[in-house]
Amino acid sequence: MHEALLRPLSLGAVDVRNRVFLAPLTRMRATAPGDVPNDLMLDYYLQRATAGLVVTEAAQISPQGKGYMDTPGIYSEEQVAGWRRITDAVHEAGGRIAIQLWHVGRVSHESFHEGAAPVSASALPYRNRTTIKGEDGRPQRADCPTPRALATDELPGVIADYARATRLAREAGFDLVEVHAAHGYLLHQFLSAESNHRTDGYGGGLAGRARLTCEVVDACVAAWSADRVGVRISPQGVFNGLDDTAGEPMGLHLAAEFARRDLAFLHLSEPDWVGGAELDEEFRKRLREAFPGPIIAAGAYTPEKADPLLAAGLIDAAAFGRSFLANPDLPARIRTGAPLNTPDKTTFYGGGAEGYTDYPFLGG
Ligand SMILES: Cc1cc2nc3c(=O)[nH]c(=O)nc-3n(C[C@H](O)[C@H](O)[C@H](O)COP(=O)(O)O)c2cc1C
Repeated sequence: MHEALLRPLSLGAVDVRNRVFLAPLTRMRATAPGDVPNDLMLDYYLQRATAGLVVTEAAQISPQGKGYMDTPGIYSEEQVAGWRRITDAVHEAGGRIAIQLWHVGRVSHESFHEGAAPVSASALPYRNRTTIKGEDGRPQRADCPTPRALATDELPGVIADYARATRLAREAGFDLVEVHAAHGYLLHQFLSAESNHRTDGYGGGLAGRARLTCEVVDACVAAWSADRVGVRISPQGVFNGLDDTAGEPMGLHLAAEFARRDLAFLHLSEPDWVGGAELDEEFRKRLREAFPGPIIAAGAYTPEKADPLLAAGLIDAAAFGRSFLANPDLPARIRTGAPLNTPDKTTFYGGGAEGYTDYPFLGG
């Protein structure tokens, strides 16, 4: 069943064995202090190594880029050693693995920054919440404060952090890096006119607002190679307090910029899984025209949603989030038409093995 999803694909320099990908999923189980990937995370990723491509949970590129409790980083040697064990295990199982590079920007809290305000494109009040560590060590929801605007002369440092993260990802054995420019985080805060009121050449029209994302991508390419770098965008919808329902022209602008650079892939996060409208066919066609390389799509995918889009050439792979979280052997279940386990929302974020590595395999 669903042969098209189970066929191999090339993503830049990397060949993958099927088009059922693990979507990036923040699970907040890294080891503190140091935000270090651990053996529990190794088990989780290894269990899902039959994905064509494992995309890791978002990993902050610097302490400044952190906005949630116990998310892993990719800026220290200790973190590289932790990730190395994970990439080795996934490779040994015949899988391929990309790391998602993350700077949360304003989706953060002063408790992660010694009392200082999180940073963003502009110092605009906005409404959103994040997850901090409560006094009992357990996850606790908290309002995000108003951020401060990054000064123009701070941007080269942020770009350099992405470049360092790319070098460390390569050293840690990843096959690819995915720049997270979606879901209302720092790069998206620069992309959207709603959150970016800058007048310094990093705001204004499409090209100005896209400038930081493009310079970040160029830095990652320079640190490794265009055929090892992809980008995730969510050009429509409302994510993390950022209403970017008018983001379609920016999505198409970015797709053309990425095509010009011959990036390994474009990862499209669609808005319907968080209550947004379904993407229309016209946008998909225009995105495909703008970006002829591999398009990965995510957002409430089922094999039934993916099949016609693959057949029409509008997407090349689908990333599955909640269904892969609850079904470590999702590709086998898709192949055989087996029923799916149901995800348990209460264990998505934080905690231990429960709701993380204890979902049953077929026949298990
Ligand atoms: C628990 C959870 C954590 C997530 N973490 C991330 C993340 O770290 N990076 C990201 O780009 N998207 C993240 N997402 C979005 C997913 O990658 C995916 O786009 C979304 O879940 C829609 O796919 P689905 O309907 O198959 O679950 C997360 C989603 C969930 C449910």
